[in-house]
Amino acid sequence: MPLISRSPDTGVWLLNTPKTSYALRIDTSGVPTHIAWGPRLTSEEADALVVPDPPPASSFEGRPQVGEELPADNGTRYGPSSLQIRHTDGSRAFEWQPSGERLVEDLSGTAELVLEFCDSLYPVRVALHYRVHDDTDVLERWAVLHNAGDRHLRVPRADSAAWTLPPLRDYRLSHVTGQWSAETQLRRDRLPYGETVLTSRRGITSHHANPWAMLDDGTAGEDHGRVWSTALAWSGSWRLTVQRTSDGRAGLTGGVGHEGTFIPLAPGEVFTTPVFAGLYSEGGYGAASRAWHAYTRAHVLPHGRETAPVLYNSWEATGFDVDEGGHKILAERAAALGAELYVVDDGWFGARRNDRAGLGDWSPAPDLFPAGLGPLSDTVHRLGMRFGLWVEPEMVNPDSELYRAHPDWVLHLPGRRRTELRNQLVLNFARRDVADWAHDWLTRLVGEHGIDFLKWDMNRAFSEAGWPGPADGNDRLWTRYVTHLYDVIDRLRAEHPTLRIETCSGGGGRVDLGILARTDQAWASDNTDAVDRLPIQHGFGQVYPSRVMSAWVTDVPNQLTGRSVPLRFRFHVAMAGLLGIGGDLTRWSEGELAEGAALVAQYKDVRHLVQHGHLYRLTEPLGEGPTVVQYLSDDAAELLLLAYRPSPRHGTPSPPVRLAGLPDGARYRDAESGAVHHSGVLTKYGLHLDMPRGTWTSIATHLVRLPDQT
Ligand code: DGJ
Repeated sequence: MPLISRSPDTGVWLLNTPKTSYALRIDTSGVPTHIAWGPRLTSEEADALVVPDPPPASSFEGRPQVGEELPADNGTRYGPSSLQIRHTDGSRAFEWQPSGERLVEDLSGTAELVLEFCDSLYPVRVALHYRVHDDTDVLERWAVLHNAGDRHLRVPRADSAAWTLPPLRDYRLSHVTGQWSAETQLRRDRLPYGETVLTSRRGITSHHANPWAMLDDGTAGEDHGRVWSTALAWSGSWRLTVQRTSDGRAGLTGGVGHEGTFIPLAPGEVFTTPVFAGLYSEGGYGAASRAWHAYTRAHVLPHGRETAPVLYNSWEATGFDVDEGGHKILAERAAALGAELYVVDDGWFGARRNDRAGLGDWSPAPDLFPAGLGPLSDTVHRLGMRFGLWVEPEMVNPDSELYRAHPDWVLHLPGRRRTELRNQLVLNFARRDVADWAHDWLTRLVGEHGIDFLKWDMNRAFSEAGWPGPADGNDRLWTRYVTHLYDVIDRLRAEHPTLRIETCSGGGGRVDLGILARTDQAWASDNTDAVDRLPIQHGFGQVYPSRVMSAWVTDVPNQLTGRSVPLRFRFHVAMAGLLGIGGDLTRWSEGELAEGAALVAQYKDVRHLVQHGHLYRLTEPLGEGPTVVQYLSDDAAELLLLAYRPSPRHGTPSPPVRLAGLPDGARYRDAESGAVHHSGVLTKYGLHLDMPRGTWTSIATHLVRLPDQT
């Protein structure tokens, strides 16, 4: 069956992924309308789903509130608009008039459908894009707006897509909320009637919400049930409106910007929305997550198949107290521990001795690095590690040479206070000159100092978000800032193909499929307390793969929470993602260094499972019993179990944990103990976890499949 086909009888477009179908058509009034999103359909079955909408029950009803591909502000539509347009003459609305369709199918297993429309009155064009791949059930959608006239337009809303769910007996919404150092807290609640808005108004993706949503009928679980999920690939302000209508339907619309922001469209200008991807899956939340992970690795990340190195990061060890000599000592210890990438965090440049000065002045501080970064970079390379550096290109301290030279480069509204957060202001990346300035010093820095890795940080939300100068600057900056940010990173990567980048925004403030399309990993949270990390990692992994989830082992008592948990436990938690070390190694005892080195070596043995395998969350985090995650290789030849347990009350039952995804009739050998297990027992009866006694204990169990018995 082709990936995309059109029924000659009904005009239904049928888009097929390996296990799902999506169907739509242009209705008799020219409006792109939704037909189906769910299990695979034949074209006859999709045709049979075309039923005329019942006439409105009263003069107070309009078109059904969900069921259009991009509900435009026009006519008898009373739900949230996905597309709103303001003309200079005060007129508004968009009336769909089909003007063309294109189907691009190539041999690489990808097909794209483009449905083109113009407005019936004004020279405005809208194209709806749909892309499917033959190796994922994730469907990518976006829209392209074109002002084909000679007057300016203002666009209050240009969502990427609207998604319609089938009628279900009930609806439940899963999403994440949070705050700095407590990101990605999973929430799973019954969807209320009306509109539920998930949004960021901060100019960044945010710690407080993340642009994805999952919906099910209230009965799905980790390993069963149908789940419809969506994720927006955008790193600025965004809005997802989830709707449950009074007639029992549900859908959602999402795209860039929050309420009150506009996208200006000058004559001739085109605006391409980010991708808003959707996935229908069976097999519960676990299957949905695994499908998102595989999609992100295969189709989003620039190098999703590459294995990430074990990194060392200096931030919690040194704070701002850095110099060449201190770093060389740390680098030697990190290398001895097994680190493969050494990252110098904040404090290496300008007058940056604390967070009050120097941000923006990107030259190595001569009193700290008398001969520049070269000697340290050489040492790190000689020790066999890659060299990484922290940067925060979008920010400036008012107490800096940069700000003294360019006070107009920051987001600001003339005459108003410039509110500082962490003593810093936001550079206006929407300005071409500012973005070019950032690109120029970054490419020089990377090229001249042998830098292999950048930790790209962004430490505050927008305020007084203004761009004086261009007439439409205050509107334009919300999207232009992000596209210029993407452009700078894209140029940098093209110029330095071996450079790898970690996205960071005070921890997980900018993690989304947009930034992940141009970075390699993400700092999930500034909270490095291993216990707090469990729910953070649980929420992070709902959509984003372990392949990008950077996690460090730091010292105890934890700097943020004051909690102390064993070194082994801290390692095992960080081993669930990209293992990093962030402790002050000059203060680790010989015993701790030896235990750390053994755990790093153990991680290297199993990291292919964590980074490229399939994640099964076998238990909920922080329940009474152990929290257990399983990573299974593609061919089910190996798996890793990580189990964490608080201090249980005496007598707390500890039932065996049932593993998942193993083939029938296989046998697995515990790589450490040599014990042999049958897959049928592991999946149907469970494995008894031999958790050590004590507080916050953990185990890592590596099982390897034995050859089949003949
Ligand atoms: C916030 C980051 O999340 C931290 O890891 C660290 O890099 C600091 N910024 C440095 O200022």
